[in-house]
Amino acid sequence: MDEIILEKRQVNSILKSNLSLNTKKLYIESYGCQMNFSDSEIVASILDKNGYKTTRNLEESDLILLNTCSIREKAEFTVRNRLKSFKKLKKQNPKLIVGVLGCMAERMKESLLEEEKLVDLVVGPDAYRDLPNLLEEVEGGQKSVNVLLSREETYAEISPVRLDNKGVSGFISIMRGCDNMCSFCVVPFTRGRERSRSPLTIVAEARELYSQGYKEVTLLGQNVDSYRWNINKKGEKIDPNTSTTIFYELLEKVAHVANDLRVRFSTSHPKDMTNEVIHVIKKYKNICNYIHLPVQSGSSNILKKMNRGYTKEWYLNRIKAIREIIPDCAISTDIITGFCGETDKDFNETLDLMNKVKFDFSYMFFYSERPKTLAERKFTDDIPTEIKKSRLQKVIDLQKIHSIENNESSIGKIMEVLVEGTSKKSPLEYSGRNDENYKVVFPKENSKIGTYVNVKIERCTSATLIGKIV
Ligand code: SAH
Ligand code: SF4
Ligand code: F3S
Repeated sequence: MDEIILEKRQVNSILKSNLSLNTKKLYIESYGCQMNFSDSEIVASILDKNGYKTTRNLEESDLILLNTCSIREKAEFTVRNRLKSFKKLKKQNPKLIVGVLGCMAERMKESLLEEEKLVDLVVGPDAYRDLPNLLEEVEGGQKSVNVLLSREETYAEISPVRLDNKGVSGFISIMRGCDNMCSFCVVPFTRGRERSRSPLTIVAEARELYSQGYKEVTLLGQNVDSYRWNINKKGEKIDPNTSTTIFYELLEKVAHVANDLRVRFSTSHPKDMTNEVIHVIKKYKNICNYIHLPVQSGSSNILKKMNRGYTKEWYLNRIKAIREIIPDCAISTDIITGFCGETDKDFNETLDLMNKVKFDFSYMFFYSERPKTLAERKFTDDIPTEIKKSRLQKVIDLQKIHSIENNESSIGKIMEVLVEGTSKKSPLEYSGRNDENYKVVFPKENSKIGTYVNVKIERCTSATLIGKIV
């Protein structure tokens, strides 16, 4: 029975692709991490082959897809509100299809259909290849859901439709899922098991981007340091006839694509970050001197409860290794305040760690309990919201001091900047980033988007370096 249905679906989709003259319009919006933005490009590519062209105009769309995030309660709240805002459009156009993709789809499954009467389609992060079939079901008048997670899916050979129109900087997913089970985190439940994508397809994608004029690629994964191809967790080769690749080797392969193609990567996990990775960053000029190394907390007690697999000392030791090997490497982090049982003493350990490291940037959050996570099952979410928030404010204030200190030390320096686009504040200025991922703004003069320019820094704010081309 299943086979017959599949055949009918296949025939239909072949007919569809032949008849794709009647092009439809897809409007896709992404929330959450860069992986979601990258996935939306895969979705756009799958649907492009089925007659959908992307649009930035909501009003003309036949299909609206929200690629959603579940990391904190607030992220889901934002999506719910966004869905409600489509009510009017749905009324005007009863044929309009609204779908929810990504982590919230995976977490909430069918219940999304009931909660928001607006949703016609729910598709989890490993089921995007099924979108054309699911859409057909919706067009036939049914609601449609596929939230199966996969152990293999990496969308390896799908060539993403780039949704950012600047053509300077592109994302490449190198792995999916996460096996770490940090106790606060919903990702292992929404993204499934960790799996790596073949190095050949990754390098091919980087080459393709470069040939299209891109000057920067960012290799993406929840924990890029545990990237491994053809080698299991015990270090054993899986297929004896194929060579193995681990993360630092992949970085080298991508660095070889072109000298003027910048290579970035995110996210590194402190427990897995090896000195080999740091040495490879140092060895290649085009691998950027920038490491995002989320610490979460400075208290070893809290880190243990978070199941992060390292202590404060271990983390500081990794920082020491980075600074010894690459003295001018920028380091950023993620911090959570108010995790279960966090005392004033624990919190002060976080401030102490920040003072020791002086991060270049931080992404800071207060703890938001997520259903099904280890923390939700094992610990009480016992820190009052006001305390979570006041601790967060302290962390933000301290980071601001460090950012200004770091930025001020750049004044007078000349740095190579990749021009990314017109500055949001002035049409006469461009904005770009230096090797260390600092945002730099400068008068356009005769420079062009997608080229490298040397900028002398004259002043700064806590978030931006401001200078002139020299
Ligand atoms: N894979 C990355 C992080 C992905 S999520 C890593 O391991 O570092 C991005 C950030 O969101 C996390 O680093 C963490 O700081 C934050 N975060 C995750 N779950 C959270 C929660 N339940 N409440 C608050 N912040 C959370
Ligand atoms: Fe979440 Fe931890 Fe995996 Fe990061 S490493 S995605 S924080 S479980
Ligand atoms: Fe959010 Fe899912 Fe990314 S929960 S942070 S979109 S992996």
